Amino acid sequence: MTSIVRTLRSVLRFRRFGIDPTEVRLSRAANVSDLRRIARRRLPRGVFDYIDGAAEDELTAARNAAAFRNVEFRPRVLRNVDKIDTSASLLGQPLAFPLVLAPTGFTRMVEPQGELAVARAADRAGLPYTLSTMGTRSIEEVAAVSGGRKWFQVYVWRDRGLVKEMLERAAAAAYEAIVITVDVPVLGSRERDVRRGFTLPPKMGLDTIIDGALHLGWTWSFVRSEPIAFSNVVNRSETDESDPVSLADYVNSQFDAALSWDDIAWFRSIWDGPIVLKGIQTVEDARLAADAGVEAIALSNHGGRQLDGAPPALELVGPVAEAVGGRVEIICDGGIQRGSDIVKAVSLGARACMAGRAYLYALGAGGERGVDHVLRQLHEGVRRTMALTGATSIDNLTPDIVHWRDRTGP
Ligand SMILES: Cc1cc2nc3c(=O)[nH]c(=O)nc-3n(C[C@H](O)[C@H](O)[C@H](O)COP(=O)(O)O)c2cc1C
Repeated sequence: MTSIVRTLRSVLRFRRFGIDPTEVRLSRAANVSDLRRIARRRLPRGVFDYIDGAAEDELTAARNAAAFRNVEFRPRVLRNVDKIDTSASLLGQPLAFPLVLAPTGFTRMVEPQGELAVARAADRAGLPYTLSTMGTRSIEEVAAVSGGRKWFQVYVWRDRGLVKEMLERAAAAAYEAIVITVDVPVLGSRERDVRRGFTLPPKMGLDTIIDGALHLGWTWSFVRSEPIAFSNVVNRSETDESDPVSLADYVNSQFDAALSWDDIAWFRSIWDGPIVLKGIQTVEDARLAADAGVEAIALSNHGGRQLDGAPPALELVGPVAEAVGGRVEIICDGGIQRGSDIVKAVSLGARACMAGRAYLYALGAGGERGVDHVLRQLHEGVRRTMALTGATSIDNLTPDIVHWRDRTGP
């Protein structure tokens, strides 16, 4: 009998009983896919689909993630990995590990603090945060809460005066770099948003009221916070702000589809800092970007939200690094869910990665603490993968530690 008690005592371990529901939720989220599941439960369906959805059949979005599964490691052993240094550099400045938080518009839909919560968490993690033109917190509000590295993402509006003004504000608020997104001459067709009737500002119909009632936690914090607006361009669009429009109508009426390579010189003339071109999807355009003299490119298909059928960024990293790696820094954007994904992209030739949904799911699952949680997990994942592949510093991440297994995705 005593031996039974002794055995039971040695194996029985109850989870610490937590009373903080956010802490309990996060303690059970082992990875991004768990955070996604929690966010899906907590957010109204329209909001979740706005984040999670992609263009048309969502093939590119699925392939972004699947591409990482097709890269396998060639782990080296007995290399003394007692001390691992995950720090990297990008645009000549340090990063705690090779990751940048991608720009995502409309972040306050997920959680009222929105961009402020994400920027603070990025600062704590030692990573740059990219604020979107379509942000729901302003350039200045974000700068006021984060002394860390901040980039400003530019959508090029037909009203170039507005673009110039935003860049002046970003410079005055000590943003380090601009990220010009070049893959949205028109908005991709996000069919989940069409089905949900997703509009700006969100309009309340019977379906949204029911959805809100089923997600009371989100609804309660939404109605208690100030109305959501595109804080950087507020009062500057021709649409009547009280009249809900679809995202596609909004973007297609405001963005300049005439944007071309010639405009890069104009940006250079009005912005003194580094320029990143986000949305490069071929080796040819990577060459043109390097010729245009930009400091970095983000290989990106916008998380599969623009052209369905565009290639996963990861597959471009090697060929682009070979073509222009010495002339321009390469960021791999799309599908990052684990620290090991970051290690794979860097090994193939990227200087760093960008991630969007990973932190949005985390924000939906646990607010600002959720973002801390996911950034900690990604960092740990990078460190652990480096140890298991025999790398002690980012310089050790070279193409010979990975190989493509096969390229057939879903
Ligand atoms: C909800 C959402 C909003 C986004 N808004 C923007 C934006 O305003 N500007 C931009 O350049 N990219 C935007 N993106 C694309 C991201 O910057 C990034 O390219 C993409 O999320 C990367 O894929 P991932 O989500 O798989 O990490 C958005 C992505 C999501 C999911």
